Amino acid sequence: MRILIQNGTVVTDGKQFAADVLTENDKILKVAPAIAEAADKVIDATGMYVLPGFIDTHTHFDLDLGTTITADNFPTGTRAAVKGGTTTVLDFATQDKGMTMQDAYDLWQKKAEGSSCNYGFHMAVSEWNAERIAEIDNMIRQGVTSFKMYMVYDAMKVNDGEIYDALKRTAAKDCLIGVHCENYDILQQRIRELKAEGRFAPEAHPVSRPNEVEAEAVARLMRTAELAGAPAWVVHLSTKEGLEEAERARARGQEVYLETCPQYIALNDSRYTEPDAAKFVMSPPLRKDADREAVMGGLADGKIDFIGTDHCSFTMEQKAMGKDDFTKIPNGGAGAENRGELVYTYMVKSGKATIEQMADMLSTNAAKIFGMYPQKGTVSAGSDADLVVFDPNAERTISWKTNLHNCDNSPYEGLTSAGRARDVLVNGVPAVENFELVKEGAGRFVFRGPSMRTRK
Ligand code: URP
Ligand code: ZN
Ligand code: ZN
Repeated sequence: MRILIQNGTVVTDGKQFAADVLTENDKILKVAPAIAEAADKVIDATGMYVLPGFIDTHTHFDLDLGTTITADNFPTGTRAAVKGGTTTVLDFATQDKGMTMQDAYDLWQKKAEGSSCNYGFHMAVSEWNAERIAEIDNMIRQGVTSFKMYMVYDAMKVNDGEIYDALKRTAAKDCLIGVHCENYDILQQRIRELKAEGRFAPEAHPVSRPNEVEAEAVARLMRTAELAGAPAWVVHLSTKEGLEEAERARARGQEVYLETCPQYIALNDSRYTEPDAAKFVMSPPLRKDADREAVMGGLADGKIDFIGTDHCSFTMEQKAMGKDDFTKIPNGGAGAENRGELVYTYMVKSGKATIEQMADMLSTNAAKIFGMYPQKGTVSAGSDADLVVFDPNAERTISWKTNLHNCDNSPYEGLTSAGRARDVLVNGVPAVENFELVKEGAGRFVFRGPSMRTRK
């Protein structure tokens, strides 16, 4: 099947230019002005940007927390993702204690069957010992070239020595380890203090993990990576101080990759005073406007590399598990559908960043850093036909009622977005047409290579 996207402005690899794009089956065949070849389907992209399919570097679909399971699984989560222009998600396959990485990989392959966008896995590890270490090469052979370690959460937490060892062992293989940076001991102590004061409501959640809790952990990770001689990757960076610590490490010559999320751009901590505040309970928590400005500035200056959603959705009924104790509220929110429109609205429409930068932060940088480039992340002949026709003038009010994710709330409820994915191709298959999902299940597993380590 051949699809011709005509009259659009192609935005890719730091440039924009008027060109048509011709796809054949699952690949881009040609990117050139006024392509006159026959096609089975023609998409008129007049007034539209044609962008590389977006890559969401951070989702949690079908994640079992032990107490409850995320509201979205792969079928529902990837439907929402693709409607928002995301053609690839990198989900956190999670090796719970008592499992091997291979068990987690096999389980995630099953969970991801029938996905509507492409999917790859980071491997989140809950323990670091001789058996897990012996599995690293096997993961790489199966296309998993990135890992995650948590400094928090009782079920997942590893210690600094284990992070040091894991960084040291994976660096030579050009694998990255994303670290959830928060100081566990301090936030636990603050939770005890807050409870002693009788503070059990969601407003206490951000108080329990203030900026310093993230910044200290980022600084510690930076020194740990320095000692290990390894690159560092901070997931879901949310604070000005955390960014400053990462920049300090870069000034020392360290190789540091940073991810942030739309919630740290679009929302602030005033939300914890709202009646439905539980839906904003996520870690790290929403921050002050000064942090939002720092995060947006970091993106605009190229200090923050890419944006993942940290989509980890729960219904209001699930969130009510913590109605008498904020520490029992399952952490996370839904974002997979809204990342592109939020980034366009808050970064591009507002004049903070260019559309070329948006393509980098939503797609190209992640493709390079996570071993998918130039298969993905670029609008170029020979690359995968994962494409977004983006309407910069499409306005809407975001609501969980019209989002395709599977839960009855959205952190972005009621926000107005300007600019949205109109048409989306996944592996050359039209999955979204005129803002509507028209095809499910077009996703495939993405076998990833080593990181390009763009900051080495
Ligand atoms: O609150 C969050 N972010 N939940 C998902 C797990 C994580 O820490 O990434
Ligand atoms: Zn995390
Ligand atoms: Zn996460």
